[in-house]
Amino acid sequence: MLVLCLSAAEDFDWTKNNHGSFYYGTFPAGFSWGAGGSAYQTEGAWDKDGKGLSIWDVFSHKKGKIQLNDTGDSSCEGYYKIKDDISLMKDLRLNHYRFSIAWPRIIPTGVKSDHVNEKGIQYYDELIDHLLESNITPIVTLYHWDLPQVLQEKYGGWQNISMVNYFNDFANLCFEKFGDRVKHWITFNNPWSVAVEGYETGEHAPGMRLRGNGAYRAAHHIIKAHAKVWHTYDTQWREKQKGLVGISLSGDWGEPVDISNQKDIEAAERYVQFYLGWFATPIFHGDYPQVMKDFVGRKSVQQGLGTSRLPTFSPQEKSYIKGTCDFLGIGHFTTRYITHRNDPPSRSSNSYFTDRDLAELVDPRWPDPGSEWLYSVPWGFRRLLNFVKTQYGNPNIYVTENGVSEKMMCTELCDEWRIQYYKDYINEMLKAIRDGVNVKGYTAWSLLDKFEWDEGYSERFGLYYVDFRNKNKPRYPKASVQFYKRVISSNGFPNQREVENWKRKAVEMCSSSNQLLAAEEQRSTAANILRLIHDPLTSHMEMVTEIVVPTVCTLSILISAVLLMFLLRRRN
Ligand code: NOJ
Repeated sequence: MLVLCLSAAEDFDWTKNNHGSFYYGTFPAGFSWGAGGSAYQTEGAWDKDGKGLSIWDVFSHKKGKIQLNDTGDSSCEGYYKIKDDISLMKDLRLNHYRFSIAWPRIIPTGVKSDHVNEKGIQYYDELIDHLLESNITPIVTLYHWDLPQVLQEKYGGWQNISMVNYFNDFANLCFEKFGDRVKHWITFNNPWSVAVEGYETGEHAPGMRLRGNGAYRAAHHIIKAHAKVWHTYDTQWREKQKGLVGISLSGDWGEPVDISNQKDIEAAERYVQFYLGWFATPIFHGDYPQVMKDFVGRKSVQQGLGTSRLPTFSPQEKSYIKGTCDFLGIGHFTTRYITHRNDPPSRSSNSYFTDRDLAELVDPRWPDPGSEWLYSVPWGFRRLLNFVKTQYGNPNIYVTENGVSEKMMCTELCDEWRIQYYKDYINEMLKAIRDGVNVKGYTAWSLLDKFEWDEGYSERFGLYYVDFRNKNKPRYPKASVQFYKRVISSNGFPNQREVENWKRKAVEMCSSSNQLLAAEEQRSTAANILRLIHDPLTSHMEMVTEIVVPTVCTLSILISAVLLMFLLRRRN
């Protein structure tokens, strides 16, 4: 990745923002605080109780696709831990919890007329009922990337228009079964990722590399499917159920490298339009952003193609799609500096990325504690929210994802950098609300450490640490739990003294949890070694799978365990 050292731009005058200043104040009454997760990332139970396979089950079982060849087979075992996890949410005093329904768990082949899996319905019924009993509003995503494998194999998944009807049938079933209790529906989570990483680069399931076409085609069908589901709700359920249907889009902010250079300003705008605007513009205005039509169209002509690689909507489709959003979900994590770059078209190597004619840069001084792509740039959040306000007619917004990961494989519950990230990002959201942006709720991402797609378990986003090496997948609060809890109970940031106090206390408390967890880890590793001594044949397999991460900390635990084994043998 290119790295450019720059001082942060100072010209943002929507708000006369001063990057350094922290705003003390509270959120509007009724603001909804939440946390989230998704089915494949947390549920586990991948082949239990009649669930069908999803593209992620199949993809993660292929060697070489996921870090350390991890899978979501058991993940956090959330399927078996409804009550445990809801008690964590209660402890945080969450107003809402965002989760997704695994399509193949309730319709194993993806085709409703084939079979509906009652056990799957029961699981989500139970989850929803327990949330409501605990006064936690469910915000439910219908598609968080786990397409039924059969639909991928038979039709090519989102490359095929037939997904629109299959998805609509699935959504309709969810409205029928759960809509009496669920009032916030999200059709798709982060369709950008589905299209680009699933069908263009192939880093995500189903792993297709259809450069230059695959992403645009997948996105086209997803937008149509979203609109159809919104209309289904609007005509068949809204009157009775009185709920809302939105979509959750992700978007990094793009800031021009040189704010006095018109080409950079346009390139930064293009970056955001090709990201968030690709989906938001059709949904709010009926068609793709003009700049996408111009750039992809021109490059297609230069390639010698008769038509643009960006598909087109008919006039009927445009009016059908326009306005199909009761609220907009925004998933936001980071920002890039953007500069103009000519990517000349070639016959063979065109892609979504080269269509944009730009380069992405980062400031090496931006903190990046976890995922390689995730730099902490809080001011970008406020800019993105203001962009949404001005571009799409100030819609109601739920922030559906925001948070930061850590890479450490050693246990670390004292996540000061996450506290800092949440503090600053939530503060920029507060400033955006003062700018007039209609943000109605915020979802910390994520409640638990979980399966992080192609990164496996190597990146931990959770407020709660999950010990994946222990079969019971115990959860431990990180310091950020204490901090977020205070933000929620104060509905914002009352004053400097208190906020500093929260931070200090959170970090004080975590060191004792850290010790507890380390002791527990040591105990369970020693117990495994003992089992190995007594029953070498049966326990050997477990040992091999449980001790997978040769980090300094696991090695030191192992050495102490081997010593223990040695001492025990000598005593016998
Ligand atoms: C967006 C995805 O929707 C979510 O599932 C994932 O955990 C985060 N990005 C972080 O990578």
